[in-house]
Amino acid sequence: MATMQDNQTWSGRFNEPVAELVKRYTASVDFDKRLALFDIQGSLAHAEMLAGCGIISAQDLKDIRRGLGQIESEVVSGDFVWQLDLEDVHLNIEKRLTTLVGDAGKRLHTGRSRNDQVATDIRLYLRSAIDDITLLLKGLQTALLDLAQHHTHTIMPGFTHLQVAQPVSFAHHLMAYFEMCQRDVERFCDARRRVNRLPLGAAALAGTSYPIKREMVAELLGFEAVCQNSLDAVSDRDFAIEFTAAAALTMTHLSRLSEELILWMNPRFGFIDIADRFCTGSSIMPQKKNPDVPELVRGKTGRVNGNLVALLTLMKGQPLAYNKDNQEDKEPLFDTVDTLTQTLRIYADMMRGITVKPEAMRRAALQGYATATDLADYLVKKGLPFRDAHETVAVAVRSAEQRGVDLAELKLEELQEFSDQITDDVFGVLTLEGSLAARNHTGGTAPQQVEAAIARARKLLAS
Ligand code: ARG
Repeated sequence: MATMQDNQTWSGRFNEPVAELVKRYTASVDFDKRLALFDIQGSLAHAEMLAGCGIISAQDLKDIRRGLGQIESEVVSGDFVWQLDLEDVHLNIEKRLTTLVGDAGKRLHTGRSRNDQVATDIRLYLRSAIDDITLLLKGLQTALLDLAQHHTHTIMPGFTHLQVAQPVSFAHHLMAYFEMCQRDVERFCDARRRVNRLPLGAAALAGTSYPIKREMVAELLGFEAVCQNSLDAVSDRDFAIEFTAAAALTMTHLSRLSEELILWMNPRFGFIDIADRFCTGSSIMPQKKNPDVPELVRGKTGRVNGNLVALLTLMKGQPLAYNKDNQEDKEPLFDTVDTLTQTLRIYADMMRGITVKPEAMRRAALQGYATATDLADYLVKKGLPFRDAHETVAVAVRSAEQRGVDLAELKLEELQEFSDQITDDVFGVLTLEGSLAARNHTGGTAPQQVEAAIARARKLLAS
Protein backbone atom coordinates (compact mmCIF):
# COMPACT_ATOMS: atom_id res chain seq x y z
CA MET A 1 0.00 0.00 0.00
CA ALA A 2 1.15 3.50 -0.76
CA THR A 3 1.41 5.76 2.21
CA MET A 4 -0.07 9.21 2.15
CA GLN A 5 3.50 10.46 1.93
CA ASP A 6 4.25 8.39 -1.19
CA ASN A 7 1.26 9.33 -3.23
CA GLN A 8 -0.35 11.92 -1.12
CA THR A 9 -2.33 13.77 -3.74
CA TRP A 10 -4.25 10.87 -5.16
CA SER A 11 -3.82 8.49 -2.20
CA GLY A 12 -6.71 6.06 -1.95
CA ARG A 13 -6.86 5.19 -5.63
CA PHE A 14 -3.28 3.95 -5.95
CA ASN A 15 -1.49 0.78 -4.90
CA GLU A 16 2.08 1.99 -5.30
CA PRO A 17 3.89 5.30 -5.23
CA VAL A 18 4.66 7.15 -8.43
CA ALA A 19 8.11 6.17 -9.69
CA GLU A 20 10.76 8.75 -8.96
CA LEU A 21 11.56 9.25 -12.66
CA VAL A 22 7.90 9.57 -13.54
CA LYS A 23 7.43 12.13 -10.82
CA ARG A 24 10.15 14.24 -12.34
CA TYR A 25 8.84 13.63 -15.84
CA THR A 26 5.28 14.69 -15.05
CA ALA A 27 6.00 17.55 -12.65
CA SER A 28 5.67 21.07 -13.97
CA VAL A 29 6.31 23.08 -10.83
CA ASP A 30 9.80 24.07 -11.93
CA PHE A 31 8.32 26.19 -14.68
CA ASP A 32 4.65 26.76 -13.83
CA LYS A 33 5.51 28.31 -10.46
CA ARG A 34 5.73 31.56 -12.34
CA LEU A 35 1.92 31.43 -12.54
CA ALA A 36 1.71 31.55 -8.73
CA LEU A 37 0.36 35.07 -8.31
CA PHE A 38 -2.25 34.52 -11.02
CA ASP A 39 -3.20 31.22 -9.41
CA ILE A 40 -3.76 33.02 -6.11
CA GLN A 41 -5.77 35.76 -7.82
CA GLY A 42 -7.98 33.12 -9.48
CA SER A 43 -8.42 31.21 -6.22
CA LEU A 44 -9.45 34.35 -4.35
CA ALA A 45 -12.15 35.10 -6.90
CA HIS A 46 -13.31 31.49 -6.87
CA ALA A 47 -13.52 31.46 -3.07
CA GLU A 48 -15.35 34.78 -3.09
CA MET A 49 -17.95 33.30 -5.42
CA LEU A 50 -18.24 30.05 -3.41
CA ALA A 51 -18.98 32.07 -0.30
CA GLY A 52 -21.32 34.40 -2.18
CA CYS A 53 -23.32 31.41 -3.37
CA GLY A 54 -23.37 29.82 0.07
CA ILE A 55 -21.19 26.88 -1.00
CA ILE A 56 -18.55 27.66 1.63
CA SER A 57 -18.99 29.68 4.81
CA ALA A 58 -17.99 33.28 5.39
CA GLN A 59 -15.44 32.00 7.92
CA ASP A 60 -13.93 29.67 5.30
CA LEU A 61 -13.58 32.62 2.94
CA LYS A 62 -11.89 34.65 5.66
CA ASP A 63 -9.42 31.84 6.35
CA ILE A 64 -8.74 31.31 2.66
CA ARG A 65 -8.08 35.02 2.17
CA ARG A 66 -5.70 35.11 5.09
CA GLY A 67 -3.86 31.98 3.95
CA LEU A 68 -3.56 33.06 0.34
CA GLY A 69 -2.40 36.49 1.51
CA GLN A 70 0.43 34.90 3.44
CA ILE A 71 1.30 32.58 0.54
CA GLU A 72 1.44 35.58 -1.75
CA SER A 73 4.01 37.29 0.43
CA GLU A 74 6.02 34.07 0.69
CA VAL A 75 6.05 33.76 -3.09
CA VAL A 76 7.03 37.39 -3.57
CA SER A 77 9.80 37.26 -0.96
CA GLY A 78 11.09 33.95 -2.34
CA ASP A 79 10.45 32.14 0.94
CA PHE A 80 7.82 29.79 -0.48
CA VAL A 81 9.14 26.23 -0.53
CA TRP A 82 8.22 24.56 -3.82
CA GLN A 83 7.97 20.78 -3.76
CA LEU A 84 8.42 18.61 -6.78
CA ASP A 85 6.38 15.92 -5.04
CA LEU A 86 3.38 18.25 -5.30
CA GLU A 87 3.67 18.25 -9.07
CA ASP A 88 2.56 21.72 -10.06
CA VAL A 89 1.94 25.26 -8.90
CA HIS A 90 -1.71 24.56 -8.09
CA LEU A 91 -1.13 21.62 -5.76
CA ASN A 92 1.81 23.36 -4.09
CA ILE A 93 -0.30 26.38 -3.21
CA GLU A 94 -3.32 24.35 -2.16
CA LYS A 95 -1.24 22.18 0.12
CA ARG A 96 0.40 25.18 1.75
CA LEU A 97 -2.99 26.79 2.20
CA THR A 98 -4.30 23.72 3.96
CA THR A 99 -1.23 23.68 6.20
CA LEU A 100 -1.86 27.32 7.07
CA VAL A 101 -5.65 27.39 7.51
CA GLY A 102 -6.80 23.78 7.79
CA ASP A 103 -10.18 22.65 6.46
CA ALA A 104 -11.01 25.92 4.72
CA GLY A 105 -8.00 25.24 2.49
CA LYS A 106 -9.41 21.83 1.64
CA ARG A 107 -12.73 23.41 0.66
CA LEU A 108 -11.17 25.83 -1.87
CA HIS A 109 -11.16 23.23 -4.62
CA THR A 110 -14.94 22.72 -4.41
CA GLY A 111 -16.53 23.00 -7.86
CA ARG A 112 -13.17 23.44 -9.52
CA SER A 113 -10.58 21.28 -11.27
CA ARG A 114 -6.97 21.98 -12.08
CA ASN A 115 -8.12 21.83 -15.70
CA ASP A 116 -10.19 25.01 -15.54
CA GLN A 117 -7.81 26.43 -12.95
CA VAL A 118 -4.73 26.20 -15.16
CA ALA A 119 -6.59 27.53 -18.19
CA THR A 120 -7.63 30.52 -16.08
CA ASP A 121 -4.10 31.10 -14.80
CA ILE A 122 -2.60 31.12 -18.31
CA ARG A 123 -5.24 33.55 -19.51
CA LEU A 124 -4.55 35.90 -16.61
CA TYR A 125 -0.82 35.62 -17.24
CA LEU A 126 -1.18 36.21 -20.96
CA ARG A 127 -3.50 39.16 -20.53
CA SER A 128 -0.94 40.88 -18.36
CA ALA A 129 1.87 39.95 -20.78
CA ILE A 130 -0.11 41.42 -23.68
CA ASP A 131 -0.58 44.66 -21.75
CA ASP A 132 3.18 44.88 -21.14
CA ILE A 133 3.96 44.07 -24.76
CA THR A 134 1.60 46.63 -26.26
CA LEU A 135 3.12 49.31 -23.99
CA LEU A 136 6.62 48.29 -25.06
CA LEU A 137 5.59 48.30 -28.72
CA LYS A 138 4.26 51.82 -28.30
CA GLY A 139 7.58 52.79 -26.74
CA LEU A 140 9.38 51.49 -29.80
CA GLN A 141 6.93 53.33 -32.05
CA THR A 142 7.69 56.55 -30.18
CA ALA A 143 11.43 55.98 -30.63
CA LEU A 144 10.88 55.45 -34.37
CA LEU A 145 8.86 58.67 -34.60
CA ASP A 146 11.41 60.67 -32.63
CA LEU A 147 14.11 59.55 -35.05
CA ALA A 148 11.95 59.98 -38.16
CA GLN A 149 11.02 63.52 -37.12
CA HIS A 150 14.57 64.72 -37.87
CA HIS A 151 14.96 62.94 -41.17
CA THR A 152 12.11 63.83 -43.49
CA HIS A 153 14.72 65.57 -45.69
CA THR A 154 17.46 62.98 -45.23
CA ILE A 155 17.63 61.15 -48.52
CA MET A 156 18.74 57.57 -48.91
CA PRO A 157 18.39 55.05 -51.69
CA GLY A 158 15.25 52.95 -51.50
CA PHE A 159 15.96 49.40 -52.57
CA THR A 160 14.21 46.60 -54.36
CA HIS A 161 16.12 43.34 -54.69
CA LEU A 162 18.67 45.16 -52.51
CA GLN A 163 19.60 47.18 -55.63
CA VAL A 164 19.21 50.96 -55.66
CA ALA A 165 15.67 51.65 -56.87
CA GLN A 166 14.35 55.13 -56.07
CA PRO A 167 15.28 57.77 -53.52
CA VAL A 168 13.26 57.86 -50.30
CA SER A 169 13.69 59.77 -47.09
CA PHE A 170 15.15 57.99 -44.07
CA ALA A 171 12.04 59.10 -42.19
CA HIS A 172 9.83 57.39 -44.76
CA HIS A 173 11.82 54.19 -44.34
CA LEU A 174 11.48 54.34 -40.54
CA MET A 175 7.77 55.02 -40.83
CA ALA A 176 7.34 51.73 -42.68
CA TYR A 177 8.36 50.04 -39.43
CA PHE A 178 6.01 52.26 -37.48
CA GLU A 179 3.18 50.86 -39.61
CA MET A 180 4.31 47.27 -39.03
CA CYS A 181 4.44 47.89 -35.27
CA GLN A 182 0.99 49.45 -35.41
CA ARG A 183 -0.46 46.31 -36.98
CA ASP A 184 1.37 44.28 -34.32
CA VAL A 185 -0.29 46.33 -31.59
CA GLU A 186 -3.67 45.82 -33.24
CA ARG A 187 -3.09 42.08 -33.49
CA PHE A 188 -2.25 41.83 -29.78
CA CYS A 189 -5.26 43.93 -28.81
CA ASP A 190 -7.47 41.74 -30.94
CA ALA A 191 -6.02 38.52 -29.50
CA ARG A 192 -6.51 39.97 -26.00
CA ARG A 193 -10.29 39.95 -26.44
CA ARG A 194 -10.24 36.19 -26.96
CA VAL A 195 -7.72 35.63 -24.16
CA ASN A 196 -9.89 37.59 -21.77
CA ARG A 197 -12.61 34.96 -21.20
CA LEU A 198 -13.13 32.94 -18.05
CA PRO A 199 -12.75 29.13 -18.14
CA LEU A 200 -13.43 28.62 -14.39
CA GLY A 201 -16.68 26.79 -13.79
CA ALA A 202 -15.93 24.29 -16.54
CA ALA A 203 -14.33 22.21 -13.77
CA ALA A 204 -12.75 19.01 -15.12
CA LEU A 205 -14.65 19.08 -18.40
CA ALA A 206 -18.42 18.97 -17.98
CA GLY A 207 -19.15 21.76 -15.53
CA THR A 208 -20.01 21.32 -11.87
CA SER A 209 -23.05 20.32 -9.84
CA TYR A 210 -22.66 23.22 -7.37
CA PRO A 211 -24.83 26.32 -7.80
CA ILE A 212 -21.94 28.51 -8.99
CA LYS A 213 -22.02 31.99 -10.52
CA ARG A 214 -19.41 32.11 -13.25
CA GLU A 215 -20.26 35.67 -14.24
CA MET A 216 -19.37 36.83 -10.74
CA VAL A 217 -15.90 35.26 -11.00
CA ALA A 218 -15.47 36.76 -14.46
CA GLU A 219 -16.27 40.18 -13.14
CA LEU A 220 -13.95 39.83 -10.15
CA LEU A 221 -11.09 38.85 -12.44
CA GLY A 222 -11.79 41.46 -15.08
CA PHE A 223 -12.71 38.95 -17.78
CA GLU A 224 -14.97 40.27 -20.52
CA ALA A 225 -17.07 37.10 -20.68
CA VAL A 226 -17.17 33.45 -19.65
CA CYS A 227 -16.17 30.61 -21.99
CA GLN A 228 -19.41 29.25 -23.38
CA ASN A 229 -18.59 25.55 -23.53
CA SER A 230 -16.96 23.64 -20.68
CA LEU A 231 -15.18 21.11 -22.93
CA ASP A 232 -13.72 23.89 -25.04
CA ALA A 233 -12.85 26.00 -22.00
CA VAL A 234 -10.52 23.45 -20.43
CA SER A 235 -8.93 22.07 -23.55
CA ASP A 236 -8.26 24.55 -26.33
CA ARG A 237 -5.15 26.67 -26.29
CA ASP A 238 -5.90 28.56 -29.50
CA PHE A 239 -5.62 31.84 -27.61
CA ALA A 240 -2.03 30.98 -26.71
CA ILE A 241 -1.28 29.95 -30.29
CA GLU A 242 -2.79 33.16 -31.57
CA PHE A 243 -0.69 35.18 -29.16
CA THR A 244 2.45 33.34 -30.23
CA ALA A 245 1.61 33.90 -33.90
CA ALA A 246 1.30 37.63 -33.19
CA ALA A 247 4.62 37.50 -31.32
CA ALA A 248 6.28 35.66 -34.22
CA LEU A 249 5.12 38.38 -36.60
CA THR A 250 6.41 41.13 -34.32
CA MET A 251 9.76 39.37 -34.05
CA THR A 252 9.77 38.95 -37.83
CA HIS A 253 9.33 42.69 -38.26
CA LEU A 254 12.10 43.38 -35.78
CA SER A 255 14.27 40.81 -37.53
CA ARG A 256 13.84 42.64 -40.84
CA LEU A 257 14.76 45.96 -39.24
CA SER A 258 17.73 44.26 -37.60
CA GLU A 259 18.94 42.97 -40.93
CA GLU A 260 18.82 46.55 -42.23
CA LEU A 261 20.65 47.97 -39.22
CA ILE A 262 23.36 45.37 -39.75
CA LEU A 263 23.71 46.28 -43.43
CA TRP A 264 23.58 50.01 -42.75
CA MET A 265 26.28 49.75 -40.11
CA ASN A 266 28.58 47.89 -42.49
CA PRO A 267 31.22 50.41 -43.69
CA ARG A 268 30.28 49.65 -47.31
CA PHE A 269 26.96 51.31 -46.54
CA GLY A 270 28.06 53.45 -43.61
CA PHE A 271 24.53 54.87 -43.22
CA ILE A 272 24.40 54.63 -39.45
CA ASP A 273 26.34 53.83 -36.36
CA ILE A 274 24.90 51.89 -33.44
CA ALA A 275 25.88 53.09 -29.96
CA ASP A 276 28.73 51.14 -28.41
CA ARG A 277 26.56 49.89 -25.57
CA PHE A 278 24.67 47.67 -28.02
CA CYS A 279 27.77 46.24 -29.70
CA THR A 280 30.68 44.06 -28.74
CA GLY A 281 34.19 43.60 -30.02
CA SER A 282 36.16 40.57 -31.05
CA SER A 283 38.54 38.70 -28.80
CA ILE A 284 41.07 38.43 -31.63
CA MET A 285 40.41 41.29 -34.10
CA PRO A 286 40.98 44.58 -32.28
CA GLN A 287 39.28 46.68 -34.97
CA LYS A 288 35.91 44.93 -34.76
CA LYS A 289 32.64 46.45 -33.58
CA ASN A 290 29.87 43.97 -34.08
CA PRO A 291 26.11 44.66 -34.18
CA ASP A 292 25.36 41.86 -31.71
CA VAL A 293 21.94 43.04 -30.61
CA PRO A 294 20.35 43.15 -34.08
CA GLU A 295 22.01 39.85 -34.91
CA LEU A 296 20.57 38.25 -31.79
CA VAL A 297 17.13 39.67 -32.53
CA ARG A 298 17.35 38.03 -35.95
CA GLY A 299 18.45 34.79 -34.29
CA LYS A 300 15.83 34.85 -31.54
CA THR A 301 13.09 35.24 -34.14
CA GLY A 302 13.81 31.62 -35.02
CA ARG A 303 13.11 30.64 -31.43
CA VAL A 304 9.71 32.32 -31.38
CA ASN A 305 8.79 30.82 -34.76
CA GLY A 306 9.78 27.46 -33.26
CA ASN A 307 7.53 28.08 -30.24
CA LEU A 308 4.61 28.74 -32.57
CA VAL A 309 5.16 25.46 -34.39
CA ALA A 310 5.56 23.66 -31.05
CA LEU A 311 2.18 24.93 -29.82
CA LEU A 312 0.38 24.17 -33.06
CA THR A 313 1.80 20.67 -33.04
CA LEU A 314 0.92 20.23 -29.37
CA MET A 315 -2.73 20.92 -30.14
CA LYS A 316 -3.33 19.18 -33.41
CA GLY A 317 -3.79 15.61 -32.23
CA GLN A 318 -5.72 16.19 -29.01
CA PRO A 319 -9.23 14.80 -28.62
CA LEU A 320 -11.58 16.72 -26.33
CA ALA A 321 -11.23 17.62 -23.56
CA TYR A 322 -8.16 18.23 -21.35
CA ASN A 323 -5.07 16.11 -21.96
CA LYS A 324 -1.80 16.28 -20.11
CA ASP A 325 -0.18 17.31 -23.40
CA ASN A 326 -1.39 20.79 -22.55
CA GLN A 327 1.08 21.05 -19.71
CA GLU A 328 3.66 21.48 -22.49
CA ASP A 329 2.09 24.78 -23.53
CA LYS A 330 3.83 26.73 -20.80
CA GLU A 331 7.50 26.68 -21.69
CA PRO A 332 7.05 27.80 -25.31
CA LEU A 333 4.61 30.45 -24.13
CA PHE A 334 6.84 31.76 -21.34
CA ASP A 335 9.83 31.73 -23.66
CA THR A 336 7.89 33.69 -26.26
CA VAL A 337 6.83 36.31 -23.73
CA ASP A 338 10.36 36.60 -22.31
CA THR A 339 12.03 36.78 -25.70
CA LEU A 340 9.64 39.36 -27.08
CA THR A 341 9.53 41.60 -24.01
CA GLN A 342 13.32 41.59 -23.63
CA THR A 343 13.75 42.30 -27.33
CA LEU A 344 11.29 45.19 -27.31
CA ARG A 345 12.82 46.63 -24.16
CA ILE A 346 16.28 46.78 -25.76
CA TYR A 347 15.09 47.79 -29.18
CA ALA A 348 13.50 51.14 -28.35
CA ASP A 349 16.66 52.15 -26.52
CA MET A 350 18.85 50.96 -29.38
CA MET A 351 16.89 53.04 -31.91
CA ARG A 352 17.53 56.08 -29.72
CA GLY A 353 21.24 55.28 -29.77
CA ILE A 354 21.58 55.36 -33.55
CA THR A 355 23.77 57.96 -35.24
CA VAL A 356 22.59 58.78 -38.74
CA LYS A 357 25.09 59.67 -41.47
CA PRO A 358 23.12 61.66 -44.06
CA GLU A 359 26.10 62.29 -46.40
CA ALA A 360 26.74 58.57 -46.82
CA MET A 361 23.05 57.98 -47.52
CA ARG A 362 23.04 60.77 -50.07
CA ARG A 363 26.18 59.50 -51.78
CA ALA A 364 24.59 56.06 -52.10
CA ALA A 365 21.38 57.55 -53.47
CA LEU A 366 23.35 59.36 -56.14
CA GLN A 367 24.76 56.08 -57.38
CA GLY A 368 22.65 53.58 -59.26
CA TYR A 369 20.44 55.96 -61.28
CA ALA A 370 17.81 56.26 -58.59
CA THR A 371 15.98 58.99 -60.53
CA ALA A 372 15.64 57.04 -63.80
CA THR A 373 11.92 56.50 -63.14
CA ASP A 374 11.54 60.25 -62.67
CA LEU A 375 13.02 60.83 -66.13
CA ALA A 376 10.59 58.29 -67.60
CA ASP A 377 7.67 59.97 -65.81
CA TYR A 378 8.92 63.33 -67.13
CA LEU A 379 8.79 62.01 -70.71
CA VAL A 380 5.31 60.59 -70.14
CA LYS A 381 4.15 64.00 -69.01
CA LYS A 382 5.58 65.36 -72.29
CA GLY A 383 3.37 62.94 -74.21
CA LEU A 384 5.36 59.72 -74.64
CA PRO A 385 3.64 56.43 -73.83
CA PHE A 386 5.15 54.96 -70.63
CA ARG A 387 6.66 51.89 -72.31
CA ASP A 388 8.49 54.08 -74.86
CA ALA A 389 9.67 56.41 -72.11
CA HIS A 390 10.92 53.38 -70.15
CA GLU A 391 12.95 52.23 -73.16
CA THR A 392 14.33 55.72 -73.86
CA VAL A 393 15.55 56.06 -70.29
CA ALA A 394 17.05 52.56 -70.33
CA VAL A 395 19.19 53.65 -73.28
CA ALA A 396 20.11 56.88 -71.50
CA VAL A 397 21.13 54.97 -68.35
CA ARG A 398 23.31 52.59 -70.37
CA SER A 399 25.00 55.52 -72.02
CA ALA A 400 25.55 57.36 -68.72
CA GLU A 401 26.91 54.18 -67.24
CA GLN A 402 29.43 53.88 -70.07
CA ARG A 403 30.55 57.45 -69.42
CA GLY A 404 30.67 56.77 -65.71
CA VAL A 405 28.31 59.60 -64.77
CA ASP A 406 24.87 60.03 -63.22
CA LEU A 407 21.87 61.10 -65.35
CA ALA A 408 21.88 64.52 -63.70
CA GLU A 409 25.50 64.96 -64.72
CA LEU A 410 24.74 64.66 -68.46
CA LYS A 411 24.57 67.94 -70.36
CA LEU A 412 21.23 69.02 -71.80
CA GLU A 413 22.44 68.36 -75.37
CA GLU A 414 23.54 64.89 -74.36
CA LEU A 415 20.14 64.15 -72.84
CA GLN A 416 18.42 65.49 -75.90
CA GLU A 417 20.18 62.82 -77.98
CA PHE A 418 17.77 60.36 -76.34
CA SER A 419 14.62 62.40 -76.82
CA ASP A 420 13.87 65.76 -78.34
CA GLN A 421 11.14 66.20 -75.74
CA ILE A 422 13.77 66.92 -73.12
CA THR A 423 14.24 70.59 -72.21
CA ASP A 424 16.16 72.25 -69.41
CA ASP A 425 13.32 71.75 -66.90
CA VAL A 426 14.50 68.12 -66.81
CA PHE A 427 17.11 68.82 -64.15
CA GLY A 428 14.42 69.60 -61.61
CA VAL A 429 13.18 66.02 -61.80
CA LEU A 430 16.60 64.41 -61.92
CA THR A 431 17.63 65.69 -58.50
CA LEU A 432 17.00 63.59 -55.41
CA GLU A 433 14.95 66.38 -53.85
CA GLY A 434 12.83 66.65 -56.98
CA SER A 435 12.23 62.92 -57.01
CA LEU A 436 11.03 62.95 -53.40
CA ALA A 437 8.90 66.06 -53.74
CA ALA A 438 7.12 64.56 -56.75
CA ARG A 439 5.73 61.67 -54.71
CA ASN A 440 3.28 63.91 -52.98
CA HIS A 441 0.30 61.75 -52.08
CA THR A 442 -0.81 59.78 -49.02
CA GLY A 443 1.81 57.12 -48.38
CA GLY A 444 4.39 58.79 -50.63
CA THR A 445 7.91 59.84 -49.65
CA ALA A 446 7.53 63.63 -50.23
CA PRO A 447 8.72 65.38 -47.03
CA GLN A 448 5.34 67.06 -46.64
CA GLN A 449 3.58 63.68 -46.75
CA VAL A 450 5.96 62.03 -44.32
CA GLU A 451 5.56 64.94 -41.93
CA ALA A 452 1.80 64.44 -42.13
CA ALA A 453 2.26 60.70 -41.55
CA ILE A 454 4.37 61.41 -38.46
CA ALA A 455 1.71 63.82 -37.14
CA ARG A 456 -1.01 61.21 -37.69
CA ALA A 457 1.12 58.60 -35.95
CA ARG A 458 1.68 60.86 -32.92
CA LYS A 459 -2.04 61.38 -32.62
CA LEU A 460 -2.66 57.63 -32.85
CA LEU A 461 -0.18 56.94 -30.05
CA ALA A 462 -1.71 59.61 -27.86
CA SER A 463 -5.21 58.20 -28.30
N1 ARG B 1 -0.10 21.05 -14.47
C1 ARG B 1 -1.24 20.84 -15.29
C2 ARG B 1 -1.14 21.65 -16.59
O1 ARG B 1 -0.27 22.44 -16.66
C3 ARG B 1 -2.46 21.24 -14.55
C4 ARG B 1 -3.69 20.54 -14.99
C5 ARG B 1 -3.55 19.12 -14.65
N2 ARG B 1 -4.78 18.41 -14.77
C6 ARG B 1 -4.82 17.11 -14.73
N3 ARG B 1 -5.97 16.56 -14.81
N4 ARG B 1 -3.75 16.37 -14.67
O2 ARG B 1 -1.90 21.50 -17.52
